[in-house]
This record gives sequence, C-alpha cells and structure tokens, in this order.
Amino acid sequence: MAKDTPVPNTPDHVAIIMDGNGRWAQAKGRPRLFGHHAGARRVKEIVRACKDLDVKYLTIFAFSTENWKRTQSEVTGLMTLFRQYIKREAKALKAEGVCVRFIGDRLKLDKQLQKLMDELEQLTEDNDVVNLTIAINYGGRDEVARATQLMAQDVADGKLNPADVDEDTLPRYLDTHVLPDPDLVIRTSGEARISNFLLWQSAYAEYEFIDTLWPDFTKDEFNKVISKYGGRNRRFGAVPA
Ligand code: IPE
Ligand code: IPE
Ligand code: MG
Repeated sequence: MAKDTPVPNTPDHVAIIMDGNGRWAQAKGRPRLFGHHAGARRVKEIVRACKDLDVKYLTIFAFSTENWKRTQSEVTGLMTLFRQYIKREAKALKAEGVCVRFIGDRLKLDKQLQKLMDELEQLTEDNDVVNLTIAINYGGRDEVARATQLMAQDVADGKLNPADVDEDTLPRYLDTHVLPDPDLVIRTSGEARISNFLLWQSAYAEYEFIDTLWPDFTKDEFNKVISKYGGRNRRFGAVPA
C-alpha cells in the first residue's frame, strides 16, 4: 500500500485519550468488553499511520488511576486484554521498529502483567521508528506525586539542593522523562476533558476533541486531524511573527 506523504508541520508527539469503547459496544447491544477488544484492534492502525506520517511519538491512555472504580469484571477483563495484547503483538511491534514504553504506576498491577510489560520494553528498546508509550494505571496527579516523592528523597540524600529546583527539575522525575512534551492531544468520544492525562506535559499542547468513538476512529480521520494541526499557529505566549 502507498505510504501517506508526511504533511507539513507534523507533530512530533501525539497523545490520545482513547475514549468511547463502552458506548460503542452498548450501541451494538454488546458487553463493554467487546468495545475494549475492538478498541485494542484500532491501535495497530494508528501506530502504522504514525509511521507513515513520520509522527515519532505516540502516547495512548489505556487505563487511568480512576478506572479501578469500574466493576470488577470490567477491570479484570481489561487486565486480561492488556496481557493478551502484549503477547499477541510483541513480535510485530519488534519487527515494525516500534519502541514500546509504559507509563503509570505499574507496581499496582498484577505480577504477570508487570513481567510482560518489562519484557516488551526490553524486546523493543533498540527500535526507533515510532515510540509507542502506553499509559496503564496512569494518572497525571499520581505521577506528579510519585515524582515529588523521588525528588524529596534526593533532597534528603543531599543529591539535590532545593534552591536549584526549577521547572526543568520535576520533569526529570516524571514517568515521561525520556519523552518530549506532546504537541497534540486528541480525545475521541465527544467528551471535552482531559481526565488526569499528562497534566504537566500538556501545558502547551494543542487539543482536538473528536465525536467519533474510539473503535470507529480510522487512519483517515487521524490523518485529517494531523493535517489540521499543521495549520495551527502555536505562539507559546509570544506575539505572532
Ligand atoms: C475508554 O473507553 C477505555 C477505558 C477507559 C479503559 P470507555 O470504557 O471509557 O468507554 P465509554 O466512555 O464508557 O464509552
Ligand atoms: C479516560 O477515559 C481514561 C482512558 C481513556 C483510559 P474515562 O472514560 O475513564 O474518563 P471519564 O471518566 O469520562 O472522565
Ligand atoms: Mg470513557
């Protein structure tokens, strides 16, 4: 299949709040987990689209620190889906040059899932075509709290002088410390909120709220959002030239 030509001003880092799986399934009279499985299948297409468009970093929100409030059967089903997804996709991700990382507090996940996550990171660590970061048990406030704890420990150990703390210090302790800040944050399903995603990192991101439910979000629609981003004027507080 022909590659899509990269558009001008392609964002370097796109982050996606993949929302609407439950409503997609319910509209079809199916259980919510059916929607989560359909949603997981969409990920592959969007990772490929990033490759074609030369978007170097893709970060996707798979499970938030607040999603534990869902029914036990939905939470268990999602955790099983994450295990299956890693097992099923590991080889292809490696072969396609995707470097996979996970953000979020993984120590609260089951041991088997943690092991699969660690192994996939190791397997793909030398890849550099696309950087796929998957947020599982991730919350922006939780991430800042954990980073602050690490930073405070460095102060207590005499490794960090409080007078030297500036706005470049905290990001070094965040889960995302190796990633650039997102240029564009997309949320599907019509909700216009960020639900605790990448709070610190998105200070100057552009946002795009799309009505489509995540399992229906195609590569073509993604391409349109990326083209639209190319026409935006990011000022970062300065007066436009
Ligand atoms: C997003 O879809 C996936 C997760 C939060 C795990 P939802 O499950 O939130 O779907 P809706 O918003 O209920 O439709
Ligand atoms: C955000 O979606 C989390 C993920 C997409 C994983 P939610 O569906 O959990 O967010 P709220 O509850 O609508 O804010
Ligand atoms: Mg939702």
